[in-house]
Formats: sequence, structure tokens, C-alpha cells
Amino acid sequence: MTDQAIIRLAGITREYLMGGERIRALAGIDLEIGRNEYVAIMGPSGSGKSTMMNVLGCLDTPSSGQYWLNGHEVSRMADDDLARIRNREIGFVFQTFNLLPRASALSNVELPLVYAGTGARERRSRAEEALARVGLAERMHHRPNELSGGQRQRVAIARALVNRPSILLADEPTGNLDSATSVEIMRVFGELHAEGQTVVLVTHEPDIAEHAHRVVVLRDGRIDTDRRVEHPVGAASAVA
Ligand SMILES: Nc1ncnc2c1ncn2[C@@H]1O[C@H](COP(=O)(O)OP(=O)(O)O)[C@@H](O)[C@H]1O
Ligand SMILES: [Mg+2]
Repeated sequence: MTDQAIIRLAGITREYLMGGERIRALAGIDLEIGRNEYVAIMGPSGSGKSTMMNVLGCLDTPSSGQYWLNGHEVSRMADDDLARIRNREIGFVFQTFNLLPRASALSNVELPLVYAGTGARERRSRAEEALARVGLAERMHHRPNELSGGQRQRVAIARALVNRPSILLADEPTGNLDSATSVEIMRVFGELHAEGQTVVLVTHEPDIAEHAHRVVVLRDGRIDTDRRVEHPVGAASAVA
């Protein structure tokens, strides 16, 4: 394990029992992700992408294998410790935004800090800062239904960032957005990565994956390919 590895999976499996039948959603995953990497996870439907994201995000525990997150072996943790490390280390963005419809953007973004027991004044200032980072400083008091799809997903990204997580995970974050809005959201992830954030996202769209710097393709619960992206879309070009 290199010093820089923030995620390390060794022999991770996840099995489900469905009506007596055993389904191997993850069939032995070995993977290292370094600090400040920007990784896209691809693969056909049913290949295990969401299961892997849920394991990475400590929303689910593997059936076997080991998972180290930022030096902690989370695969051995009990639920309480898992919840604590999830709160501290992980920001999660979902395809369907999962915002509270009656709450303002600001209140939605403050929510993880309410759970963390942060005081009101600091909650407010950190939520404002997170919304400013995703370009929504002017929309803080709007409710989700007063925002466009892209703006809603920005609120969800701000909410994921507000605890200053060591990794930002996103499962098909552009899956509900049109292509222009998808590019807008990918620009936000690109900026966060450029600021030092480690980003792992799932997509089934090849042109979306090309915004990342590394693409890992799953097939039948295993890693099929793992490659560097030579010229990520939107990244500053090294060539003059
Ligand atoms: N909660 C569950 N119960 C039973 N089977 C599941 C469950 N979640 C996922 N699976 C199965 O695990 C496999 C991988 O699913 P998933 O990780 O959702 O794939 P993807 O996100 O790549 O489409 C599929 O065969 C799926 O049907
Ligand atoms: Mg999925």
C-alpha cells in the first residue's frame, strides 16, 4: 500500500441471497485509489457498480475481503464506527439528488452538520462556503422546486462536501440530466478535483467518463480494465 492510497480494496466480494439463489454482485475486487485521483467506474447494467460504490461509501459491508479507507480497516468495523467514519470521510451524491423538498438549499446543505452536532453559526458559514464552491451563492434560499436539475445536483454536491470528506463518491450523478447540464455538473467535479478533492463517480456514458483521469470498467463483479485517460475533457492541457 502506497502512502498516498486513500482507498484500498483486497479480494472484496458481496453476495446476495435471492430466493435461495446466490448472486455475486462483487466477485473479488482488488483496487487502490490514491489521494486526489479522479476515477470513473463504468460497466454494463448489473456489473456491480452501485454495489461497489455502496461498499466504498460505507453504506454496505462486503461479504469477504478487506477495505482500508484512509488507513482505517472499515471491513472490520461495527455499525457505530462505520457510521462515524462515513460521516467524516465520505461525501455521497446520488442520481436522484435526494434533497428535502421543503427545505432551502442552505438547510439541505446544513443537514449533515446537524447530524454531526456542529453549532448553528458554524453550520451556516460552512454551508454557505460549500454552496459558493459549486457556484450557488446566489441561490441559497431557494427550495429544490425553484431550482433547475443542474442546480439541484449542485446543492447535493455542496451537501456532500460540507463535512470536508476525504472522498467524494457519486453514483450516476448525471443520469437524470440532459447532456448540456451533465457537462455543467462534470465541470463542477473537475474543479473540485483541481482543488485537491478525491473523486470517484459511476457513469455508463463514455463521454462523461472521459472527464475523469482514470477509468475502471467492471464486468460480472470483477475489474475488467483499468486505464489512465490521456487527455481528460476539461482538464488544463499541458501542451501549449
Ligand atoms: N439488494 C440486492 N438484492 C439482491 N441482488 C442485488 C441487490 N443489489 C444488487 N443486486 C444484484 O447484484 C448485481 C449488481 O448490481 P448493481 O451493483 O446494482 O449493478 P450496477 O450498478 O452495475 O447496475 C445485479 O445482479 C443485481 O441484480
Ligand atoms: Mg447502479
